[in-house]
Amino acid sequence: MDQVLHEKTLAASSAVSQITSGMVIGLGSGSTAEIAVKLIAKKIKSGAKITGVPSSISTKKLAESLNIPMITDTVPERIDITIDGADEFDENLNLIKGGGGALLHEKIVASASDKLIIIVDSRKTARPLGSSFHLPVEVIPYAHVVVAKKIKELAATPKLRMVKSKPFVSDEGNYILDCDFGTISDVQHLANALSKIAGVVEHGLFIAMTETIIIGSEETVRKLHRK
Ligand code: A5P
Repeated sequence: MDQVLHEKTLAASSAVSQITSGMVIGLGSGSTAEIAVKLIAKKIKSGAKITGVPSSISTKKLAESLNIPMITDTVPERIDITIDGADEFDENLNLIKGGGGALLHEKIVASASDKLIIIVDSRKTARPLGSSFHLPVEVIPYAHVVVAKKIKELAATPKLRMVKSKPFVSDEGNYILDCDFGTISDVQHLANALSKIAGVVEHGLFIAMTETIIIGSEETVRKLHRK
């Protein structure tokens, strides 16, 4: 197994070991969360009663193919644990998510969860948000030009996410602006400013939502807990 996959698997196993029978689990999106979904399916096969809440269409498809029982019509009031990946995290466990374009559903699932566990490989380390990843902002297609202008006024460079020469479309039919803010000095201030822009559906800053980050490394995992 290649090193990165090995580290992701260690982090995912550590997170999945916290799941007990009877729990409702938020199923994250992206390559690391997918490993956790596969391990959850194994746990169900060995007798655990687990219900999943998928955070994207691709995760739903994967979980379906693995026969994981799911709630798919709406997010329930309460989820015990959500296990998801992240694109960046800082030392306060704030995150940037949305590299895969699933940030809206991921944030809704996370917001319903008693515990959000983030799993990453060791290439990701705590650093100020925005240092190495552009912040995804989900916008309704009708508003993307004017929202991009407002984001430029916040001293950022937004770029419409494209796939094969066409705008990327999220699971909710929206567009994504990947915004270069440089290093973000005040994440809460930026989150508030983005939420005020008409046409912004959600942004990829996940502030004070994470309980634990599990980082896979060569032989073991390192855990960062919310202070
Ligand atoms: C999906 O929209 C993202 O938030 C992912 O959770 C994030 O991009 C991490 O993905 P990887 O685990 O593939 O790095």
